[in-house]
Amino acid sequence: MILATGANGMVGSYFPSETVLKTDIPEMDVTDFDCVRDMFRQHRPDHVLHLAAWTDVDGAESHIEDCCRTNAIGTLHVAAAAREVGAILTYISTTQVFNGKKDDPYTEFDEVDPVNAYGASKAEGEKIVREICDRHYIFRAGWMLGGGGKDHKFVGKMFDLMKTRDELVAVDDKTGSPTYAKDLCDGILAHIETGLFGTYHMVNGGGVCTRYSMAIEIAKILGRDDITISPVSSEVFPLPAKRGNNESAINHKLSLMGRNPMRPWREALSDYVRAELMTCGR
Ligand SMILES: NC(=O)c1ccc[n+]([C@@H]2O[C@H](COP(=O)([O-])OP(=O)(O)OC[C@H]3O[C@@H](n4cnc5c(N)ncnc54)[C@H](OP(=O)(O)O)[C@@H]3O)[C@@H](O)[C@H]2O)c1
Repeated sequence: MILATGANGMVGSYFPSETVLKTDIPEMDVTDFDCVRDMFRQHRPDHVLHLAAWTDVDGAESHIEDCCRTNAIGTLHVAAAAREVGAILTYISTTQVFNGKKDDPYTEFDEVDPVNAYGASKAEGEKIVREICDRHYIFRAGWMLGGGGKDHKFVGKMFDLMKTRDELVAVDDKTGSPTYAKDLCDGILAHIETGLFGTYHMVNGGGVCTRYSMAIEIAKILGRDDITISPVSSEVFPLPAKRGNNESAINHKLSLMGRNPMRPWREALSDYVRAELMTCGR
């Protein structure tokens, strides 16, 4: 049986409830070791999908301890409890573990060197998983797409703005790799069947992109080619957390193994907008 932590979040919503026992705060708070251990002893999962996390990247800068307690100590609790019941552990990480100074997309062979508190807490979580659970998978995702009616991230915001605006701006000096949460979950479920443990990048392919190129693509999908979208510097939208200029990645290991399940990001974005945003009544 697979047990998921933090399963009420965006990524968790794409895992099937029929095969995954979904837990979340408050009944399963990963910062409470007794609670985690009791839950695992009760259900004795074969596999734990550890999704619970502090994911507010900007808020983490002013709440470093809270972020570390959830992302590092919470992961320690989950890893220790998983080991006790003999479960395999799967952890979702982020391309924000890198410093963003590389010119090309990051591979699994690059060194981590986070530049913000969230990235540091996720990198610490990775280390803890490797130290405690021999049988583990770590999947690093990029700019996550998903959530449909609850999407308050870039794609959701652009979708809403494009209903009423004829002119928009979007940042074009930061690169990343979109990752449709649905594709990520399907990819994870397929890969964890293999027994090929380790750290993997799992982002959509089709080349790196910027928020600007994503905005252009969303306008195309919505048939709003008439909107003027202008590229701007990230300095126009100052944020508390530092971001590297390059958060892009490739699924280097999965590709070398002939097991890369991720489609191009334009295709994934189109599916997401059509199947989830255009139908959710927002
Ligand atoms: N979203 C992204 O852009 C992104 C990109 C790369 C990697 N990831 C990683 O992907 C994983 C899933 O993220 P997501 O996008 O699904 O994030 P999310 O929507 O914020 O979901 C995280 C879930 O964890 C819960 N949670 C928070 N603190 C907890 C605690 N102490 N104990 C148990 N549950 C707790 C949250 O509950 P509340 O909502 O009530 O706090 C939420 O339901 C995370 O590990 C994240 O770091 C996310």
